[in-house]
Amino acid sequence: MKYELAPSVLSFDLTSLSSSVPRLIAAGAGIVHLDVMDGQFVPPITFGAALASSLRKHTDAPMEAHLMVMDPERQFDAFQEAGCKRIVFHYEATKHAHRLVQDLKSRGLDAGIAINPGTPSEVLDAVIGDLDMVLVMTVNPGWGGQKFIASTLEKIARVRALRPDMDIQVDGGIDPSTIGQVIEAGANSFVVGSYLLKPPTLEEGVKSILEKFPLS
Ligand code: DX5
Ligand code: ZN
Repeated sequence: MKYELAPSVLSFDLTSLSSSVPRLIAAGAGIVHLDVMDGQFVPPITFGAALASSLRKHTDAPMEAHLMVMDPERQFDAFQEAGCKRIVFHYEATKHAHRLVQDLKSRGLDAGIAINPGTPSEVLDAVIGDLDMVLVMTVNPGWGGQKFIASTLEKIARVRALRPDMDIQVDGGIDPSTIGQVIEAGANSFVVGSYLLKPPTLEEGVKSILEKFPLS
């Protein structure tokens, strides 16, 4: 099982990502996690594909878009053109999850579906065989720096039992004190945002997460 740290830039100074993102990648972070919010699916508004395009000019780091937006398929072209290799949309934001997964895969992108803490994983049973990744939200989407929701652990374990081979990502409240629980439950991709800004340097923050990964 491959383990990856997906740094969320939501809590970062967005005007200095051209220097902070290369540092995160050089320190061992995996795929840059872009939290896209439209003010409809969740109250805040963050950024669109323009941020991904700008970032692409400064780093060839892999990027994923976490679309916390209604009608997510309206954003697929822009984030693909901006260079994202993985697009994750919310099950709760569309009536056509299966069709949107087909669309993403026809584009050659990795297809992920995110589910909120209040959404049972059973809703994915009809499409889980087609997914590259399930994102089990471990906070309610919309803000960084929230407390980890432990009731999501059994959901992670259920999804892992259904798909031993697939990426399972967790997102929200992940830090050295919670990452062991989600690894134990079966997650292998970890979105970490605000915690990375707590240690003295970004490099120490990344290291303190990577050292929790099981030796593969
Ligand atoms: C919240 C976002 C998360 C968030 C994670 O809606 O999807 O990616 O930025 O932030 P932390 O790690 O601070 O909980
Ligand atoms: Zn996210």
